[in-house]
Amino acid sequence: MLLHAFPLGARMWEPQHALADAGWHVVMPQFRGFDCREPDEVPAASLDDYAGDVADLLETINIERAVIGGLSMGGYVTLTLYRHAPELFAAMVLADTRADADTADVRRNRDRLIAVAESGGSAAVADDMIPKLLGASTRATRPGTEMQVRALVAANIPRALIAAQRAMSNRPDSTSVLDSIEVPALVVVGEEDVLTPPPLASAMAARIARAQASVIPAAGHLSSLEQPAAFNAALTAFLDRL
Ligand code: MLT
Repeated sequence: MLLHAFPLGARMWEPQHALADAGWHVVMPQFRGFDCREPDEVPAASLDDYAGDVADLLETINIERAVIGGLSMGGYVTLTLYRHAPELFAAMVLADTRADADTADVRRNRDRLIAVAESGGSAAVADDMIPKLLGASTRATRPGTEMQVRALVAANIPRALIAAQRAMSNRPDSTSVLDSIEVPALVVVGEEDVLTPPPLASAMAARIARAQASVIPAAGHLSSLEQPAAFNAALTAFLDRL
């Protein structure tokens, strides 16, 4: 079960469809509101809502335990779900994410981004965030990836992005959750990730009893999408060892 980042959507995981060829049953849900199909749906008030939706989905598709992971915001939701329902986890994947809560500066930046979404829509959010989402190597050499990310962001309605910003802003610190994780965990990060940099990933892995860490070369914050072959190799090696 792979949970997507902000401000993208489930289609960011398209390069990971290849895991199905290796025999894995891959589930990539879109967070509430992000699919734009039900604009009247009650937006998420907290990350607990997204985590609850993931738990409900697992029940609906009759999966008792899964390898559950996410990238960045998807990682926040993964830790939120572990806090509430560790029994759902066979293993965990934390990609380009963090366990601590927002600082005051980050909260202020979220308020600014909400204003950007309100005034300029999703395309303006993409303009604002892409320089930090993508690593320097991707921005310099892979314009196609930048266009792909822009399209993924623009597909979302601003209302979903605003609700997600508020939900992330209110999330509690999950550092103590790391200490309680008993299942195997893969902590993976792009070498050029400026939002959740490699030292942060190492520190997270050090607190998880059965963690292994992997750094993806020439990738930024969206490591799964920027370097899919290397990301998939790290993920498959982890899954094969389970
Ligand atoms: C993400 O990639 O999901 C976001 O950068 C997370 C955040 O805004 O904290």
